[in-house]
Amino acid sequence: MSYGNGKSIGLTVLLSVITFIVVIAVTIGIWYRVKGFNEIQNNFSSNAVSSSIDEISKLENDYDLMQTPNTQINMGNLILVNDYYEYKGDSSDITIIYESKNEFYSVSSYEDSAKPIVIENLNLMLEGFHTATNKTDINIISGFRTRELQQQLYNEGDATYVARPGHSEHETGYAIDFGLYDGQYSSPFDGTDEYEWILQNCYKYGFILRYPLGMEGLTQINYEPWHYRYIGKPHAYYIWQNNICLEQYIELMRMYPFNGEHLIITDYNADMYEIYYVAKDPMAEYTGVPVPKDKPYEISGDNIGGFIVTVKI
Ligand code: DAL
Ligand code: ZN
Repeated sequence: MSYGNGKSIGLTVLLSVITFIVVIAVTIGIWYRVKGFNEIQNNFSSNAVSSSIDEISKLENDYDLMQTPNTQINMGNLILVNDYYEYKGDSSDITIIYESKNEFYSVSSYEDSAKPIVIENLNLMLEGFHTATNKTDINIISGFRTRELQQQLYNEGDATYVARPGHSEHETGYAIDFGLYDGQYSSPFDGTDEYEWILQNCYKYGFILRYPLGMEGLTQINYEPWHYRYIGKPHAYYIWQNNICLEQYIELMRMYPFNGEHLIITDYNADMYEIYYVAKDPMAEYTGVPVPKDKPYEISGDNIGGFIVTVKI
């Protein structure tokens, strides 16, 4: 049996130590490269961690990390507010509709108010409705409600139509109820006859019929032909086209995490959007939300546990 001489044993040990150091250095190097993206997204799965360095470089080159306060999961046009998910956002930018409305509809009260983005698209939608039907009798009977007002309506009303205080979309400023007013008489908006135009065209302006017939089991609210909710164009188009409700759409979002396949929507206008979901970082006050460096995008909370990024591509 030969054990070699002392010199070759020393060389072998030296080579082993060098190899060990090189392996450690390479491992640390790789770890640092993936760390940036790995840290910001708690659902950045093992899949992405094991991605090739090229893939990681692409992410670093194409996306920035937007440090987003976790409190913003309660804000944005995609928040899901229902009997399960309470609204915790604020009403800082709520605006009086009467002051920025056009001539194609009326409001029931000077107090009726909503988010500016809702009023802007409501004006366009009701102008489109007027062009198609020559009608101007749509009347806004309810927009933003304070929690106190929702409480009062809830005390007076029927819980299959009126949401629990804290759980009404009207508290967000993204919901509008329609009625009809011909200058003399008021009547309910049932969405039939010419008024069906609203149901068939609302997605073009970013609105959805929020409580459709047959989806009461999912929405927990009876069919309300008069209640429309603003969520943004690509999302409204997807919901309209697939005949689903907001509860189903927000659940679907989790199937499209940043590190996985993204949802691509080509809307009726041939505008293309890329949509992905980023879970909030439960260990920090902020979540690093990857956003594209060179394309317009919006971040909305889902009011559950994460953010939805909508990129115009
Ligand atoms: N009518 C709807 C459900 C609300 O009260 O918010
Ligand atoms: Zn309503």
